[in-house]
Amino acid sequence: MTIPLPARIGLLVVLTTGFYTYVGQLVPQKEVQPPQETAIRADLTTADMVTVGRQIMEGKGLCFTCHTIGKSGVLRFPDLDGVASRAATREPGLSDVEYFAKSIYAPDSFIVPGFNPGMPVINKPPIGLTDQEILCVIAYLQTLGGTATVTLQTSHRYYTAPGAIPPAPPDEKAEPGEKLPLTLPPAQKGETPKAPAAGPTPGKKGEV
Ligand code: HEC
Repeated sequence: MTIPLPARIGLLVVLTTGFYTYVGQLVPQKEVQPPQETAIRADLTTADMVTVGRQIMEGKGLCFTCHTIGKSGVLRFPDLDGVASRAATREPGLSDVEYFAKSIYAPDSFIVPGFNPGMPVINKPPIGLTDQEILCVIAYLQTLGGTATVTLQTSHRYYTAPGAIPPAPPDEKAEPGEKLPLTLPPAQKGETPKAPAAGPTPGKKGEV
């Protein structure tokens, strides 16, 4: 018995489609997920921050694309093992927290001896960690040879934690409006440069 031609073609189509469908299923399906967002809750303890900081360094911080922990030999990037014990003495006057903050927000302002510049600014795109995420990263870095002390309320020179008293801007004290009335009544302002000897001196003497 011969199979009619249309049926043979139909069968061929079904078998071919079936074969390719089968092969297609064998190819591993890779699902690309956006980097996991780590929500930083305001009530994280320092210990929580250490855990979160490590996750950030493995994930969206991309730190381990360059850095290692506990690798020796000829390295392109500084190994971070024991970095906390070095951090406090890297730059005179900078605590470990300040040094870590500086190496993350302004990596090129201090170059670890023996290495080349090349670390990205971590709070800017493409990495773009938030100030809170960076505090968690600092907490983890502190555990590498030291003890984590930072909290989410810790301020440093690149970040003022909410609720912390911000350092007074340096030029605020130099405002002329504050200074002048202490020495000269406003009316005498214009006269001062013309007659410094005769005019204001008796007035000043009287005041003192
Ligand atoms: C593209 C590679 C690269 C990436 C990504 C990178 N770094 Fe670096 N990092 C460097 C280089 C290069 C240096 C040394 C030069 C310098 O001091 O800036 C360095 C230096 C450091 C130092 C100073 C180490 C010391 O011994 O004083 C710290 C701390 C640091 N990085 C932390 C981080 C953290 C945390 C991240 C992730 C959030 C990160 N780095 C991501 C390349 C990188």
